[in-house]
Amino acid sequence: MKAILLNPGPVTLSDGVRAALQRPDLCHREPEFATLQQGLRDKLLAVYGLAGDTWAATLLTGSGTAAVEAMLISMMPAEGAMLVIENGVYGERMLAIAHAYGIPALGLSHAWAEKIDMERVHAALDENPRIAHVAVVHHETTSGRLNDLHELAATCRERGLWLLLDAVSSFGAEALDFAEWPIAACAATANKCLHGVPGTSFVIARRERLARGAKRGMYLDLSRYLAQQDAGGTPFTQSVQTFYALDAALGEFFAAGGVAARHALYAGRLGRVRGTLRRLGVAPLLPDGDCSCVLHAFELPSGTDYAALHDALKARGFVIYAGQGRLASRIFRISTMGEIGEDDLARLCAALEAFFAV
Ligand SMILES: Cc1ncc(COP(=O)(O)O)c(C=O)c1O
Repeated sequence: MKAILLNPGPVTLSDGVRAALQRPDLCHREPEFATLQQGLRDKLLAVYGLAGDTWAATLLTGSGTAAVEAMLISMMPAEGAMLVIENGVYGERMLAIAHAYGIPALGLSHAWAEKIDMERVHAALDENPRIAHVAVVHHETTSGRLNDLHELAATCRERGLWLLLDAVSSFGAEALDFAEWPIAACAATANKCLHGVPGTSFVIARRERLARGAKRGMYLDLSRYLAQQDAGGTPFTQSVQTFYALDAALGEFFAAGGVAARHALYAGRLGRVRGTLRRLGVAPLLPDGDCSCVLHAFELPSGTDYAALHDALKARGFVIYAGQGRLASRIFRISTMGEIGEDDLARLCAALEAFFAV
């Protein structure tokens, strides 16, 4: 039976993306590869309508964490510190990356799923005048919370600070205001809202800010990638087949109407799942307005064993996702990215009813 993936990436592939994996073998030192790579870089900028003289998309072979790590170590200048907002696994991971490279960083820890406390942000910035960058996860997949970047971005703009965004699970489906927010860079991946396959990730960086970044690391040094990719090359072997898949996925993305259409598609799907679960007495973790359109978390009703729920749904062809760490015993998560048909959604709702209505 074909499995429908309701985990937050990798996603269920479309036939077109799967077929793209079979395109002809290609050496990454040939001109055809340079054309493929440049086409992807242009299309990634086009997702949010960005101009190539100000912004650069840099492609990496690695998962989303590779892009986040490359962004943090390459964008931070030698001087200055970073404030890292933590309200889930991925914010905490950014702080761990900063620590691993000895980048001066202050973590602003919140309980998982809690919204960003702007009073504490202001206090931390007042107390630490060396902070010039604020790193934050846009959609914190741990809980499904879409961190509200409007106020944070306004604060950064007023104080002359730059944002470093982990947009791994929002890029392509949630609004990112590159014109108004002081974004230095954002990191994302092929295999979530863009519907490609795992193995390619990317950073969209403001060229002028990347030029000011210090040299840290070697394989993940974005400046090295940028220089070579601007010249049609690549410092290291890229995953050619995942590039093909991303190319096909981006073609489908634009044909379907881009970010706004993808947002509406996911929101419609999750609204249906959420409504079904509510009727069955299963409460969402967060209010609707706090959630991304990509993933919602739900409280496990008392007495419900996650493994039993997972296995019952898997037997009907759906793979859901557990909570992480301290939320593992409390929640389960459903994401509706990827190739999911109306009939799949109807079967999913029926499967949820069959499990919870007993
Ligand atoms: C917000 C966020 N950041 C980073 C990552 C890490 O991505 P990867 O597992 O592809 O390294 C994820 C993965 O789900 C994520 O949701």
